[in-house]
Amino acid sequence: MLGDIVGRPGRLAVAQQVPVIRERWKPDLILANVENTSNGTGLTPEHYARLKDAGLNGMTLGDHCFKKVQIVETLDTAGDIIRPFNLPLGARGKGWMRIPFPGNPARGLFVVTVLGRIFMHNMPADDPFAAVERALKEFTEKDPIVIVEIHAEATSEKMAVGWQFNGRVAAVLGSHTHIATADARVLSHGTAYITDLGMSGPWDSVLGRDIDKVLSRMITAMPAPFDVAEGDPRVCGVCIDIDEKTGLATAIERIELKANPSAPPFTA
Ligand SMILES: [Fe+2]
Ligand SMILES: [Fe+2]
Repeated sequence: MLGDIVGRPGRLAVAQQVPVIRERWKPDLILANVENTSNGTGLTPEHYARLKDAGLNGMTLGDHCFKKVQIVETLDTAGDIIRPFNLPLGARGKGWMRIPFPGNPARGLFVVTVLGRIFMHNMPADDPFAAVERALKEFTEKDPIVIVEIHAEATSEKMAVGWQFNGRVAAVLGSHTHIATADARVLSHGTAYITDLGMSGPWDSVLGRDIDKVLSRMITAMPAPFDVAEGDPRVCGVCIDIDEKTGLATAIERIELKANPSAPPFTA
């Protein structure tokens, strides 16, 4: 699973590096959080289609899920993209998905994304712990293989979700901060965990945004549009080994790949 894809640099870096990931780690499925794909916030249907073409098997969205409102039709109908589960009942789209494993469609990967509540003011979200419990009850497959994404700001809240579902899900993966953390490990009862997957996007930036624009706003207090930055595009995430019999993890490894902006698809 890859962390938040930011803007064109993130999208192209992922398109370029997915074949590298397939070659090196041989994953059954590749997921990514795509909430910042389209000009830094939200996802358009066009970019959804392009990321699918690039080889993503499943996509998740966080607090920016509805920023490009034209995506809601896709969220209602497509089986491989979700928005956070703990939104109000009237919210469009789905909060969890089941992605069949290639070659073994009787077995599926359940993915649920929840928003944290600490320092998260963009959207009204319910208790993420209760929401994951509720989602788990809806996963009716025997010994389901489950990934929980906790899209949240506070490291404490993410770690707490990790411990709460330790031994009950294959992985609890943090996203949203765009800064990868160095704590990837398998918790005591077989749940792979990382506090944040990090960002797939331009690393010469402030969380993917143009450095000068962010500095200008912070130093002068004058509003400035936060353009997406360009330099040093990288792809960031984790590779997880899951035992299909137990539905629990045996290993988690961080991935951080430097893209080559002088090669296709950047130059195409
Ligand atoms: Fe994000
Ligand atoms: Fe976010």
